[in-house]
Amino acid sequence: MNQQMWLNLATQENAAAIKKHGIRIFGPAAGAQACGETGPGRMLEPVEILSLTSELFSTGTLAGLHVLVTAGPTWEAIDPVRGITNRSSGRMGYAVAEAAAEAGAKVTLVSGPTALGDPQRVTTIRVSSALEMFDSVHAHIEGIDIFIGVAAVSDYRPASAASQKIKKHADTLSLELVKNPDILKSVAALSSAPFTVGFAAETENLETHAREKLIEKHIDLVAMNDVSATDIGLDTEDNRLLLIDRHGKSELPQQHKSQLARALIQHVAEKYHAKRTTQDSRRARR
Ligand code: PMT
Repeated sequence: MNQQMWLNLATQENAAAIKKHGIRIFGPAAGAQACGETGPGRMLEPVEILSLTSELFSTGTLAGLHVLVTAGPTWEAIDPVRGITNRSSGRMGYAVAEAAAEAGAKVTLVSGPTALGDPQRVTTIRVSSALEMFDSVHAHIEGIDIFIGVAAVSDYRPASAASQKIKKHADTLSLELVKNPDILKSVAALSSAPFTVGFAAETENLETHAREKLIEKHIDLVAMNDVSATDIGLDTEDNRLLLIDRHGKSELPQQHKSQLARALIQHVAEKYHAKRTTQDSRRARR
């Protein structure tokens, strides 16, 4: 529709009346129009129509819920061309976001720098540093039912980033590092905290260290992966997970990250609903 037609009062009143009767309107999108004008009235892209339609018919285990996922590495600048980062490709986190969307959830993904395209049916927000990821997570946390921290967030960042490229005059160079805030822990500490899932990337004493994270960060569930080998876990297609909560543990065997993410999401959905049922019955007894 031409933008003037869409913005016309009669059209707007009719659209509002239709919405009042519970009819969902998809779009319109805004942009360049065939007549040469620019504005709202364009048809949405077919993939967006598909996504919105499938949301309406979703009966998945996370239908009606809003999930926030973090993924990828962070980039902590040393100067305009150098920084501290890690080998996280983002594959695991993107697969988790997609699996949650497949299970019917509305999904927001806050991603560090990766080479991956935005996952379908997911609102993706790109950030760079741990501080940016922290701010973006907290800007979008309201109304979130489940938070899943898959990002490999840098624990430290340079105390200050040089504004110009550092020249190699000296034989040695010391960098002062300061601690980054723990995003996962800060979400779990919120007064209305969502169901909170953390990942633990371990290279030794795997289960012990993962349990420590579960307790120390006050989270509901920890998904531990062994990142000591080069052929599984970090920057690979496959992974396996040990899922630990306060009631027990279970293993998800080695498989492609997309399959693994689906199994993880089913587990998270069961645990989330079990927690909700317990909370509801406690409230009813009061
Ligand atoms: O991206 P891929 O190549 O697919 O690799 C996937 C992965 C190995 C990165 C992923 O499966 C994984 O393990 N992610 C967590 C990596 C990590 O940082 O683990 P950690 O044990 O250091 O942190 C524990 C948890 O705290 C994580 O949920 C992490 O997101 C969170 N955290 C850590 C530090 C910090 N400052 N803020 C955080 O939120």
